[in-house]
Amino acid sequence: MVIAIDGPAASGKGTLAKRLAAHYRLPHLDTGLLYRAVALALLDAGLDLADRAAAAAAARALSPEFLGDARLRGSAMGEAASIVSAQPEVRAALLDWQRRFAGSAAGAVLDGRDIGTVVCPDAAVKLFVTASAEERARRRHRELDGRGEPVAYEAVLSDILRRDARDADRSAAPLRVAEDAVVIDTTELDADAAFRAATGVVDGRGGPQG
Ligand code: CDP
Ligand code: CDP
Repeated sequence: MVIAIDGPAASGKGTLAKRLAAHYRLPHLDTGLLYRAVALALLDAGLDLADRAAAAAAARALSPEFLGDARLRGSAMGEAASIVSAQPEVRAALLDWQRRFAGSAAGAVLDGRDIGTVVCPDAAVKLFVTASAEERARRRHRELDGRGEPVAYEAVLSDILRRDARDADRSAAPLRVAEDAVVIDTTELDADAAFRAATGVVDGRGGPQG
């Protein structure tokens, strides 16, 4: 069973994906890390994020060991990832990789922006996790504070709004709700409540063995 989870920044899709993967004993791929790793490879090489040929080459050269770098997690890399991810050549280079992962024996949980729409259009379960921009900014703000990277709330909110617009407005695999996705709005849901809502959907489809 493939569980496809999409949604905007800080909606809680990563937290949910991890918990579902542990619960159903499925491998999990945070696909945002792939785009973050492409951006980091370019920045490390002193190259411009808008250099399409270099970005495509970096995406083709990506291998799993790049995904463990702690520098991938910061908000600067999220912003950089959203710039390289708008380039169709980068997306095309990462597509097979993601599909191979999704094709692994028992199934998989993948989270990102275009899993239900492009990467795994036949996924057994598609969830679209969202929350108001203000609530997402509060979460990200709290997270950054906790990591000792204090930033003004307003700056976090404007970063989120800019990234939402870039991800939704691009022509290559824009962020949108797949027709057959179940929307989970977590504005008023904590991680436990979101998990319960999601397992209700998955179990309703017969679970990973169904
Ligand atoms: O992966 P994504 O950027 O969508 O979000 P996340 O990293 O899963 O969650 C962002 C933050 O919101 C984390 O600190 C979560 O603990 C928190 N969170 C929450 O407050 N309520 C939820 N329902 C889910 C996550
Ligand atoms: O955790 P957060 O939602 O902040 O970021 P992420 O999921 O790591 O994604 C970083 C950026 O990568 C997003 O803003 C998207 O532009 C891009 N991305 C994408 O285009 N397609 C995906 N499947 C995953 C991420």
